[in-house]
Parts: sequence; C-alpha cells; structure tokens
Amino acid sequence: MKYFKIPNSDMNASEISLGCMRISSMTNQEIAKLIHTALDEEINFFDHADIYGGGKSEEKFSEALDMTPSLREKMLLQTKCGICDGYYDFSKEHILEAVDGSLKRLRTDYVDVLLLHRPDALVEPEEVAEAFTILQNSGKVIYFGVSNQNPMQIELLRKFVKQKIIINQLQLSITNTGMIDAGINVNMEIDPSIDRDGSILDYCRLNDITIQPWSPFQYGFFEGVFLDNDKFPELNQTINAMAADKGVTNTAIAIAWILRHPARMQPVIGTTNPGRVRDACKASDVTLTRQEWYEIYRAAGNKLP
Ligand SMILES: NC(=O)c1ccc[n+]([C@@H]2O[C@H](COP(=O)([O-])OP(=O)(O)OC[C@H]3O[C@@H](n4cnc5c(N)ncnc54)[C@H](OP(=O)(O)O)[C@@H]3O)[C@@H](O)[C@H]2O)c1
Repeated sequence: MKYFKIPNSDMNASEISLGCMRISSMTNQEIAKLIHTALDEEINFFDHADIYGGGKSEEKFSEALDMTPSLREKMLLQTKCGICDGYYDFSKEHILEAVDGSLKRLRTDYVDVLLLHRPDALVEPEEVAEAFTILQNSGKVIYFGVSNQNPMQIELLRKFVKQKIIINQLQLSITNTGMIDAGINVNMEIDPSIDRDGSILDYCRLNDITIQPWSPFQYGFFEGVFLDNDKFPELNQTINAMAADKGVTNTAIAIAWILRHPARMQPVIGTTNPGRVRDACKASDVTLTRQEWYEIYRAAGNKLP
C-alpha cells in the first residue's frame, strides 16, 4: 500500500480508503474480519457518516473492533454530517450535535476529518464557520472537508471558514466520469461537453483539495457493479485482459484506473468482502500507462474528439 500526505494536513494516509456505508447489517465478527483485513493490507483511512445504517455503521464499527485508544491511534477516521430525514442541515446547532453523536458511536474523542455530506440549499456559511471553529478548538475535529460540492459552493464556504477545506468526496468510477469528460470535450455541441460541476476536478487540483471518489465500482447512482456485468462487454474485455497481463484481478484494475489520475485521488471502496479488499489493494502496486488509461476510458463507451 502506498501512502501520501494529504495536502494541507499532517495525515499520512493510505491511497485507498475503506468506506463503511454498507457494514450495518453485518455481524460484529464479519465487521471485525473486514476491518482487520483492511488494516493488514495497510489501509489506515476509514470513511463513515452519521447516517450510514441510521448510525449503526459507526456504532457497530467500534463495537466490533472493541475500540481501544491504541487501535484508534492506528486509524484515520473520517465522518460526515448534514443529511437529515427529508432535508439537509448545515446549521451550527446540527453540525455540533451530529459530531457529538458520531464521537459517541465511534467511541473516540475526535475524528480526523469531518465532511459536510451534501450541499444544503439553505447553508449559512457564517454558521458553518462558527461550528468548525468550535469543533477545532475543542479538539473534536482535526480537519474539515466537503462532499458533492461544486467550486462556487466551496468558495462560499471559504469566504467564512477559517480552516482549510482539504477534501471533496465525489462520485467517480470508470463508468461515471462526468468531471473528466467535460475537460476532454471542451466547447463541443455534444453531451460529454456539458460541464455539470463547474470544473470541479481542476478546481480541486488548483486548490490542493483531495478528491475522494465514492462508489468506484458502481455505474449510475447505485445501479450496480460494472465489473463482470453483461451491460459492459467491451469494458470488461479490456479490463480483464489488462488484469491477466498484470497478474491482478479486475477489481484492482478498476481502482488502478482512478489512482493513475495525477490529481492524486483517494478512492473510497465500499466492499464488505475481505477478499475484495485484498484484491482492490493490489491496485497500489499497479501503474497503468497513459495508453492503458485511455484504452479503458474508451472501452467504457467514451469517444475522444
Ligand atoms: N459522499 C457521498 O455522498 C457518498 C455516497 C456513497 C458512498 N460513499 C462512500 O463511498 C463508499 C463506497 O461506496 P459504495 O459501497 O457504493 O462503492 P463500491 O465500492 O463501488 O461498491 C461496493 C458494492 O459493490 C459490490 N461489488 C460486487 N462486485 C464487486 C466487485 N467485483 N468489486 C467490488 N465491489 C463489488 C460490493 O459487494 P460486496 O460487499 O459483496 O463486495 C458492494 O455492495 C461508501 O462506503 C461510503 O463510505 C459516499
């Protein structure tokens, strides 16, 4: 596993992180096996949110591991807040309450990173700023970031928030490449030319904000996995040939494709299967060539102008 220093932080993070969105229905034994496999593979970064499993994911994570201070110190823990039942809430009161809930469930005094989960149309950035400062001063949160936000939303926050925004968690997989397509098809009268996110990829690179791609194996909005899926024959043929050539699985190639991008992204894998965690981590030893990266991109149905 390769590590990298997340810009504007002191965190030495594994380049692949494990997302805990899907663990709430697992037994404690299964969760312990999953997390220990990840730790054995030298993953040190774990992604949570207060809403995963209605709080159960955070709770069962620490319960299954029988979280101790020494184990906690081996991990970088990230959580998110702001999604409520039928609305989004970035109010100061809600952010503070949400973090207290997460800390309790995770059995820890602090999280390394707090992300605002999805843009709140009613955001008052002054309130976010107050909440972040309280959380930083109390030591409950070390670093701050966002998720699913566009450049202007981040700029609005940055006008008021004193802390650096160091992470933006965004949907990206081989079959979900809007933020890449728009930069390849500039100024053309075709769909991939449409800039739906305000050039978020370049914005994050310009501002040293680490992109964390979520759902790296999914197509659509949680429609399913594109690997070994008959809907993507050419893509799977290409990925499988490369996997065979490099002696890894197709799972590793899907992650290696993201890691090859020079923006230095940190994919968040969501598998609950320890074997797949091991497969995905092999991506850290694979560096795709420029030609291979484009070959996969084209095999996913993208055309170069
Ligand atoms: N910020 C946001 O808005 C947001 C949104 C969604 C997710 N996230 C974060 O991103 C993480 C990953 O999301 P995700 O779980 O949707 O991502 P994912 O890693 O793309 O998908 C994992 C799912 O795909 C299944 N799968 C089937 N075949 C697979 C294969 N060959 N390789 C890998 N997985 C395969 C897994 O099943 P098995 O478990 O059986 O392997 C699991 O159900 C989440 O845990 C969460 O932390 C963030």
